[in-house]
Amino acid sequence: MKTLVILAHPNIQGSRVNQRLIQQVRNHPEITVHELYSSYPDWIIDVPREQELLETHDRIVFQFPLYWYSTPPLLKKWQDDVLTYGWAYGSQGKKLRGKELLVATSIGGRQEVYQAGGRNHFTMSEILRPLQATSNMCGMTYLPAFVVEGASDENQLAQAAIRYADRIRQRTAS
Ligand SMILES: Cc1cc2nc3c(=O)[nH]c(=O)nc-3n(C[C@H](O)[C@H](O)[C@H](O)COP(=O)(O)O)c2cc1C
Repeated sequence: MKTLVILAHPNIQGSRVNQRLIQQVRNHPEITVHELYSSYPDWIIDVPREQELLETHDRIVFQFPLYWYSTPPLLKKWQDDVLTYGWAYGSQGKKLRGKELLVATSIGGRQEVYQAGGRNHFTMSEILRPLQATSNMCGMTYLPAFVVEGASDENQLAQAAIRYADRIRQRTAS
């Protein structure tokens, strides 16, 4: 299965979690890593190039740090620009149909704050609903999200990176 990891981190040099995760999946023959912020420093997205990348992969991964309960802004712009009517959705827009979407996101603290009654009140599944809805609109299969806690030590982070690489390559039962 050919997998495209779209990494959206505004400051990957200063990143602890996402940098470690992406290291783990680089240089794998079936995985293409595509870094949005370094590809588009001017934020002018090459839509035909992005659409071709998507068309030539079966599983799409959005990897990003959670910023204000959402994606960093360049990934939102990427969605607005690339997922066009007649290509991604609409009666003729079938290019993503049957592909899988895996959301891989890092959060600031512990995952237990993301639940009813917890400090953030909502679960990560609830917070990520807009991406799930987008996936549905494009006829994609939305996979269970991969969420990494920020408050992990180096050993936990290394374990998370191994789990991430496993999840990315894991076949889904169909
Ligand atoms: C602008 C901004 C907004 C953030 N919003 C959230 C948030 O809504 N929820 C959360 O759990 N963490 C939030 N954080 C923390 C980041 O998600 C966290 O630092 C990041 O996932 C760690 O990954 P990294 O080491 O790859 O940067 C925010 C951080 C920044 C800079």
